Amino acid sequence: MMTLLLLLLFLCEAQSWVASKPNFVLLMADDLGIGDPGCYGNKTLRTPNIDRLARGGVKLTQHLAASPLCTPSRAAFMTGRYPVRSGMASQSQVGVFLFSASSGGLPPSEITFAKLLKDQGYSTALIGKWHLGISCHDPGDFCHHPTSHGFDYFHGLPLTNMRDCKLGEGSVFTAAFRLLVLLPMQLIAVALLTLVVLKWLGLFRAPPCAFLFLFLLATLLLGLLLGFLHYFRPLNCFLMRNRDITQQPMSYDNLTQRLTADAAHFLRRNAETPFLLVLSFLHMHTALFSSKDFAGKSQHGSYGDAAEEMDWSVGQILDVLDELKLANNTLVYFSSDQGAHVEEVTVKGEVQGGSNGIYKGGKANNWEGGIRVPGIVRWPGVIQAGLEIDEPTSNMDIFPTVAKLAGSPLPQDRVIDGRDLMPLLRVRTRRSGHEFLFHYCNSYLNAVRWHPPNSTSVWKAFFFTPKFSPEGANGCFDTHVCFCYGQYVTYHDPPLLFEISRDPRERNPLTPTSEPRFWEILEAMQEAAARHARTLQDVPNQLSLGNLMWKPWLQLCCSSLGLSCQCDREDQDGRQSP
Ligand SMILES: *[C@@H]1O[C@H](CO)[C@@H](O)[C@H](O)[C@H]1NC(C)=O
Ligand SMILES: *[C@@H]1O[C@H](CO)[C@@H](O)[C@H](O)[C@H]1NC(C)=O
Ligand SMILES: *[C@@H]1O[C@H](CO)[C@@H](O)[C@H](O)[C@H]1NC(C)=O
Ligand SMILES: *[C@@H]1O[C@H](CO)[C@@H](O)[C@H](O)[C@H]1NC(C)=O
Repeated sequence: MMTLLLLLLFLCEAQSWVASKPNFVLLMADDLGIGDPGCYGNKTLRTPNIDRLARGGVKLTQHLAASPLCTPSRAAFMTGRYPVRSGMASQSQVGVFLFSASSGGLPPSEITFAKLLKDQGYSTALIGKWHLGISCHDPGDFCHHPTSHGFDYFHGLPLTNMRDCKLGEGSVFTAAFRLLVLLPMQLIAVALLTLVVLKWLGLFRAPPCAFLFLFLLATLLLGLLLGFLHYFRPLNCFLMRNRDITQQPMSYDNLTQRLTADAAHFLRRNAETPFLLVLSFLHMHTALFSSKDFAGKSQHGSYGDAAEEMDWSVGQILDVLDELKLANNTLVYFSSDQGAHVEEVTVKGEVQGGSNGIYKGGKANNWEGGIRVPGIVRWPGVIQAGLEIDEPTSNMDIFPTVAKLAGSPLPQDRVIDGRDLMPLLRVRTRRSGHEFLFHYCNSYLNAVRWHPPNSTSVWKAFFFTPKFSPEGANGCFDTHVCFCYGQYVTYHDPPLLFEISRDPRERNPLTPTSEPRFWEILEAMQEAAARHARTLQDVPNQLSLGNLMWKPWLQLCCSSLGLSCQCDREDQDGRQSP
């Protein structure tokens, strides 16, 4: 009897302890620039809900994405580690997954914050974009899938939103088509023509099979191109619920509404248990989309419409938290995986990339515009409302912050690069945990940031910088994204040094004359980079050509009938139809 009572008491204790754990709602936008939200200074784009979140919490003004590209940035966010540590940093030009049937992804050995929280009894959900792989060896293993990385529930897009997912929005493969299909076709046409002329002139007796061969080659190339164009959308742009496909190809009709409604259902279902919701928006990546209520309503074209729709979604989530009286027990975070993609301009000249405010560059490079992203953290009653903090912080910091608040120890067998944000957010300290931050362009160390403990200065030294094209532009418009090595960059020895705290626009590189401690500062930064390099281990490259390529045997398809891959089991309110 006594034992039973004690057991009951213990269970009650455990219950109340579990109930006292805070909830987490982590909102991640795609390609949203720091110059876009109203609370970061935009006067014409309307983001009242993001602004409301900022007013109720802390606005970080030097919040940095661990990488300026989706896949590596999200890998770092999920694991609290630089993407090179998990093999999620490419050594080639392609830095993100482009096919759903690639074998690369977040390795099963990596530990996400979702996994830690699930182990602490949290209900965990990812709604929206993942972009960290699906399967390793066979289509049923789901080794990289959110449900294998600590999420009880997944509803969304395993790959990413892209132009090819929406009819009439163009293609991200235009340059590749030009190189791999159109150029060979032109060469074949020239060869055929030459053969015909030579034969006609009687100068050369080409065997008929030569004509046939060239003709077949051309037909094959054309067939591949048409096949690719026809099948790309269903094969890569589909929605899943847990491990089942629910809509293939994905429809953009009310897409934000559906995902938002599902996120709200998740909150309501779990109001009594501690939960982690990661709402990972498909906005603001191209193809841009918005529903009837938002289309044509903003002052900034389809980009503005999409941003205002995303802001609406943020508002819906905040409203549900209020309604469930959970706001005071929930830490809400809002950020973007990297800066705005400034090179997104359509052939008609419509600007489809966002604003990085005063900052140089953007997505895919490590100028401040590519990595300095919105960063808002709200937790009423715990974090003072209306604060603005300019210390260097990283999206990797969410991992240890969330783990600690949930009562989870950090993994001891690996380096965690993120730092607990709470002491800074609660103003227990004025300094962030980052004396140094390392800015990678894919797997190449691009720049180092140093905030010396005894000073207010923040220094940033570049080992190389991207060659903007055309020259004088604020981005790599000729290649659509900046690349990280070779002819596409300028190497700097000595490194190009800026004092970011005084020159946030990165306009005036310092010299030994303009900065008397020039060599001393660079030496400290180079030593830090060398120390950091010694902590790196050789790991399998998840973004190697072999892991990036389309592997037909990994392809998921919801219909067993041939190659059509068409189905729709999505409900308008986000729930699955029976
Ligand atoms: C989108 O949602 C609205 C409001 O719920 C509804 O009236 C409309 O029919 C939906 N549109 C589509 C294309 O499903
Ligand atoms: C506000 O955002 C829009 C859309 O990205 C952009 O065109 C505009 O320049 C921004 N305004 C400011 C002041 O940054
Ligand atoms: C939430 O916390 C704030 C700030 O401490 C307080 O003013 C408010 O009354 C609390 N709301 C609820 C519902 O407890
Ligand atoms: C700050 O400390 C570093 C070493 O920790 C030293 O090199 C540097 O001179 C110091 N700067 C100032 C302004 O005291």
